[in-house]
Parts: sequence; structure tokens; C-alpha cells
Amino acid sequence: MAVYKAAAGAADRVVGRGSNTAAEAGSNSTAGAGATDHAEVDFGFERVSPAEKTRRVAGVFSSVAKRYDLMNDLMSFGTHRLMKRMVMEMSGLRTGNRHLDLAGGTGDIAKLASPIVGDTGQVVLADINAEMLEVGRERLLDAGITNARACQANAEYLPFADNQFDCVTIGFGLRNVTDKDRALREMCRVLRPGGVLLVLEFSHIENPVLRGAYQSFQALWPSAGKALVGDAESYKYLVESIRVHPKQSALKLMIKDAGFNDASVDNLVGGAAAIHRGIKPAN
Ligand SMILES: C[S@@+](CC[C@H](N)C(=O)[O-])C[C@H]1O[C@@H](n2cnc3c(N)ncnc32)[C@H](O)[C@@H]1O
Repeated sequence: MAVYKAAAGAADRVVGRGSNTAAEAGSNSTAGAGATDHAEVDFGFERVSPAEKTRRVAGVFSSVAKRYDLMNDLMSFGTHRLMKRMVMEMSGLRTGNRHLDLAGGTGDIAKLASPIVGDTGQVVLADINAEMLEVGRERLLDAGITNARACQANAEYLPFADNQFDCVTIGFGLRNVTDKDRALREMCRVLRPGGVLLVLEFSHIENPVLRGAYQSFQALWPSAGKALVGDAESYKYLVESIRVHPKQSALKLMIKDAGFNDASVDNLVGGAAAIHRGIKPAN
């Protein structure tokens, strides 16, 4: 099954099995990489060019796509599901709304949003990675969801017109985006005035005892990745990428700088994860 490359209008295609034509030529499974090579960025603890980061992040998720959900449940003891439900509670989504789930991967958030927006609304599951998106699209199909679209797109270059969505979510995705500021500005652009942005992401624990315990637990992730997915490196990247991700206060400022009002943050599990919220200013 082919998955669409990012291009204007790609979101208008229904989630469906069958063969589709890639809307934009591309030689690998990452849509619209678009990164420019002007400064180095973090890839975990390494500093690499933006293009290199985009390429290596694609490698990580292509490698883990098939067993991503299993690992997610094991590493979080299932709590990521509760966190995603909290995101939905905070979304203010209603029947008839349009929702964009960016870096949506295997479709957990899109699946929760679908019954809320109902038949008169629409959910767009977008991800840069064809393998992750394919797993997500299959899951939505298997759940009998008919109001969702799948779109392969880079969060930094969204193939949507301005003011399209009532809510944009990005769950455990922003950490992996090469140019986060640009992606946040894009999220603001595609939201309607008054629309809600919710960023669910791993974050930073203040309490040193809890932080130490959590870091000891994280030290097991590469070995678990090796045992279950045959890939320790991707889970080493995961641990490192969490450490170098902006702290709660810094991300809040980035959200404001991207054009949002009322930026706020709620810590989950002592800060192991956090939900940042921003509102696009009314006209
Ligand atoms: C950790 S997974 C999260 C998947 C899903 N949101 C969840 O919470 O289970 C991160 C996802 O971000 C996607 N991603 C990374 N960089 C991206 C970008 N620039 N634009 C869109 N998606 C991106 C990856 O392909 C991957 O599917």
C-alpha cells in the first residue's frame, strides 16, 4: 500500500486501502524533508546537520514502526494512553470540528478524536514517515473509522491552507522535528483563530529523587529495544532526545514566539511528560 507524500490537497484523500499515486516525487520514505544545512542541531547527544537529523529520525521510526505500539506500552506501562486521553479532554473538540494530529504515527490520538468530531467532522493523521503512517492508517481502517484522512507530511512544511483546523495535536513528536520553531509557526498558521494547539511530549522532572529513578528506568530502554525490536540504537536515541528536549518553560516561550496566546503547561507524572497548550489569537 502506498502512502501519500506531502503536497497541497493530500489531506483530501480518504484513509483507504489500495494503491495511490504519490503526490510528490521522493526517493525515500520521508516526505518533504525540506531541512536546510545552515546550522547544527541535536540528534540525541550528537550535533548533526539538519538534513542529517531528518534522515536519521526517519531511520529510527522506519526501524521501529511495526513494533512501536508494543514498545510504547512497555516503556510507559500503558500511561501514554491516559496521557493521550487527557489531551483529548483538553482539546475542546466537538462534533463537526476539523482536527489535525501531527506526527501522528500509529494513530492513537486520531482514533480518540474520530468519534468526538463525528461524521460531520474530519481528522487528519499526518506523519513524515511512510512506515509509521501506514501502520496508523491500517489501524484506523481496522477500527472502521471513516472520517479520517492520512497524509504524509513534514510538520515544518504543512500542505494545508491557513486557518483550516479547530485543533492541532502533536504527541511525542515535536522532540523529533528538526526545526521546532518553524513547525510551531506552521501549526499556528493552519489553526483557525481561537483554535487550540496541544503538544504532548516527554519532559523534565524537577524532583531529583524521582528524576534519578526515572533515568535508571530509561537506561533499560536500549536493551529492551534490542530484545523486542532488534534495535538498541533507536531507543538510545529516544533516551538522549528526551534529555536534550527543551525544558517546560523554554517550550512555553517557543509556543508564544510562534504566535500563540495563553501558552500554558501541565506536568504529568512529575514532569516525565508535559502537555503544552496554546491558543491561536482571534482575528
Ligand atoms: C514517538 S512517535 C509518536 C507517534 C504518535 N504521535 C504517538 O504518540 O504514539 C514520533 C513520530 O513523529 C514523526 N515525525 C518525526 N519528525 C517529523 C516531522 N518533521 N514531521 C512530521 N512527523 C514527524 C515520526 O515519524 C514518528 O511517527
